[in-house]
Amino acid sequence: MEQKKLRELLADMSLEEKIGQMIQLPASVFIDGTIETGPSGTITFTEEEKGLAGSVLGKYGAEELRKMQDEQMEKQPHHIPMLFMFDVIHGLRTIFPMPLALGCTFSPESVEQACRVAAKEASAAGLHVTFSPMADLVRDPRWGRVMESTGEDPYLNGLMARAQVRGYQGKDLAQAGNIASCLKHFAGYGAPEGGRDYDNVELSERTLRQDYLPAYAEAVREGCKMVMTSFNSLNRIPSSGNKWLLKEVLRDEMGFDGSIITDYNAMEEMIVHGIAEGPAQAAVLSLHAGVDMDMVSPCYAKYLKDLVLKGQVEEKLIDEAVWRLLCLKNELGLFENPYKDASAETEKAISLCKEHRELARKLAAESFVLLKNEDVLPLTDSDQKKLAFIGPMVKSSLVHSSWSFPESEDELVTIEEAIKKVRKTNTVFAQGSPILDQGMTDKMGRYEECQDADQYRKEAVEAAREADTVILCIGESPLQSGEGASRTKLSLPEVQMELVREVAQVNQDIIAVVFTGRPLDLRELETIAKAVLVVWYPGTESGNAIADVLFGKAEPGGRLAMSFPRSVGQVPVYYSHFLTGRPNLSGDKKGFCTGYIDENLYPLHPFGYGLTYTSFAYGDVELNQSALCKNKEDDVIEASIDVCNTGMRDGTETVQLYIRDMAGSVIRPVRELKGFQKVHLKAGEHRRITFRITEEMLRFYNIDMQYVSEPGEFRIYIGGSSQAENEAAFYLLDET
Ligand code: GLC
Repeated sequence: MEQKKLRELLADMSLEEKIGQMIQLPASVFIDGTIETGPSGTITFTEEEKGLAGSVLGKYGAEELRKMQDEQMEKQPHHIPMLFMFDVIHGLRTIFPMPLALGCTFSPESVEQACRVAAKEASAAGLHVTFSPMADLVRDPRWGRVMESTGEDPYLNGLMARAQVRGYQGKDLAQAGNIASCLKHFAGYGAPEGGRDYDNVELSERTLRQDYLPAYAEAVREGCKMVMTSFNSLNRIPSSGNKWLLKEVLRDEMGFDGSIITDYNAMEEMIVHGIAEGPAQAAVLSLHAGVDMDMVSPCYAKYLKDLVLKGQVEEKLIDEAVWRLLCLKNELGLFENPYKDASAETEKAISLCKEHRELARKLAAESFVLLKNEDVLPLTDSDQKKLAFIGPMVKSSLVHSSWSFPESEDELVTIEEAIKKVRKTNTVFAQGSPILDQGMTDKMGRYEECQDADQYRKEAVEAAREADTVILCIGESPLQSGEGASRTKLSLPEVQMELVREVAQVNQDIIAVVFTGRPLDLRELETIAKAVLVVWYPGTESGNAIADVLFGKAEPGGRLAMSFPRSVGQVPVYYSHFLTGRPNLSGDKKGFCTGYIDENLYPLHPFGYGLTYTSFAYGDVELNQSALCKNKEDDVIEASIDVCNTGMRDGTETVQLYIRDMAGSVIRPVRELKGFQKVHLKAGEHRRITFRITEEMLRFYNIDMQYVSEPGEFRIYIGGSSQAENEAAFYLLDET
């Protein structure tokens, strides 16, 4: 629709109709069989409010959404189509690895492909907007939602956020297969006190701007159409009413001109936070902060009209909000075609199709991180050796993380199903234990009743005794991570560790495949298993991808996007830490230095770490010049290094570039990721890798909160993890 006509439409709408456009209702208000993604509140909406609602969340399906659209448009005085939104955060019907696993691929290209597939399946199912990417930076694995993030690094998160927005939105929203991207959770949601979901976030403005905001800014730069406010209070102001955050930072500084929606009932929750005396004040705070749409709460629906009529809020603000929402509907082409791509035929044809499954299988292998391997992987696929697959994840189809909604367990490939396809003999499978200990709860407050735990274990130990090699398939329940699933421990369920210990009594040739939604404390497991492969939650093609990697058909391509601590006591732990005035370089020093008297200072496995099935050696870092001139246009340093595949197998290395600013007007991290390149080398092959370093890459928030570079010495580190040691130095000079 032409802008002029859209303006005329807005001008012709009643106040009630305009407010209706600012309301998102749960689909359960209209239809059964929906997916509730928040506490089902006690609020009820009147028939008029329902009839005027501009958006719905929590339902997909071409037929149902087409019908819902028809019925709703019929009730609308101007027949304005609704926006259908859903959490498609790592695939809809074809479930991809969870976002933290996607971060470990260090492949924005792969992630973009996954989001393209997700968008195609979602749009065929009638959806218009996905609540993704989640660009929250995370450093605390106690928080259950680290699985939804792409990790602890601002640079990697920024690239991944942009890739997701591109994948979902394509070049033209109205085109078939594209959906709008809603960036979340703005802002700082990944840093709740104590790792406790929804808790207050205290960040200095410098840390907020330096570490936590950049990835959101990248998604905005990529053109995301919507932003979701976060549940948390940021420095004691809940985001949904935080005018500085939403107007000054998001809209004025970042230049975001799309729509802002709250998280689930977050507007009303400002009353509980204690910043609004009631729903009317919550509505005023949100409207003044620039929130366009109220997700599920009663505040806008039931109080905005009176607030306007009493002159307590300006109708102009409502017009601005509705204009942004109408523009989004217009960009999606909904005024010309209110169903967009909803097609039951296409939905059936492409959902979980072979091509989508193959991509999910490929990405899963790219996301797996090999933490340890004493030459036991890959397995030879000869049937000579007797293999025993033991553990609660052998047969489980709980191989997808939070925010995935498989319609049937049959869609998901278990380890047992996959292995049986590649090995016809000499292979046994044993459950070994329940996933959860008696009394341990998942986020739904459930634990597994498992009467025959002892019997399970006996059978498994017998299987282990008879086998040449044991492959332990263990891990957290997917319900121990995700929203509302913070943990005070980072251990594997004890009932599983008891199994591991008993198996180790009868067989020492152990490989561990670990499913998890977060970095775990794997110290004990690593003393027992000869190899540890973290598979996160691989999604639909889980079993096939695990079989591919175990038998060497694919390599474990992941590098940690989030550090694995030695213990929960170290948290928060991350690679871009500060040296402090009393550094502890080995991590073991005691006395007057940074660290612990009862634990090494550094994580068990650092950001960027991951083994391959081959080995790589690095030459010296060589610079084409030893200084960069700050004011010389286009001045660039080329840092080059030879990488050689010194192993017997072809393999892919993720070559990482880190830079350290040796001194600044504020202290600077020991290093920061500034680039990476994935390079595939044949056995024995070597290649020269070059990174370009510009003055812009050296900028940071200085003592005056200006985003600038400062002259001085810098160090470059290039290698296969954040502990890369091959280094070189250069200077940034102030002259031209
Ligand atoms: C949830 C989540 C958010 C999600 C929204 C809609 O509470 O915090 O990530 O997109 O509600 O389901």
